[in-house]
Amino acid sequence: MSHREVRAAIAAGRVQCNDLVVTSGDTHTDVFIRLSVDGKEVYHKEAVYIMLHKPPGYVSANSDSEHPTLFALLKGEYTGEELHIAGRLDRYTTGLVLLTNDGQWSRAMTNPSSKKPKVYEVELDGDLESSMVNAFAEGFYFPTEGKYTMASELDILAPRRARLTLYEGMYHQVKRMFHRVGRKVVKLHRISVGPYELGDLAEGQWKLVSDQVFDV
Ligand code: URA
Repeated sequence: MSHREVRAAIAAGRVQCNDLVVTSGDTHTDVFIRLSVDGKEVYHKEAVYIMLHKPPGYVSANSDSEHPTLFALLKGEYTGEELHIAGRLDRYTTGLVLLTNDGQWSRAMTNPSSKKPKVYEVELDGDLESSMVNAFAEGFYFPTEGKYTMASELDILAPRRARLTLYEGMYHQVKRMFHRVGRKVVKLHRISVGPYELGDLAEGQWKLVSDQVFDV
């Protein structure tokens, strides 16, 4: 359709966006819309939100020449061109990863200012000490980034096992934080991000979810 034809169709009330008649050419629309003319769909872009249980060995990247990426687990249903990863995990870290084509949503999930908790289960090479709880709450200075980590919550579950809640996601953050208290992370698993919990989603499996940006 030419611009003139579109304007005429709008003026005649023949154009609908998300089931509402478009009244002006300037109508503001989201990127995710369903557009129809004379009741026939001419354009449809849907927002996609995915929860995936990452197995070890997969890289959080759109493509990689050496290792399988998370997109291999989506078995061609969605590609790295269509979706992006909202908060990466290291190759051997397991657990919850969120994928989407909605940039606003992924920013809301990952931006430290939106304070969405990311909860990790961690196994260490040595015993934890109660003084470490304070150290994690106070934060560590990361010279590479030139800033302090935000207050995080360390719950000691067993001598060498803890649950850690972060509100941000710096490069290798969990491993670097434990390194600062003299411990090496031997296993790392993410169980939740904001309102999304891994639950009983099996390793390697994924499912579509709805957008719950404002729930946490
Ligand atoms: N922190 C890490 O060190 N690795 C991850 O994969 C996630 C958080």
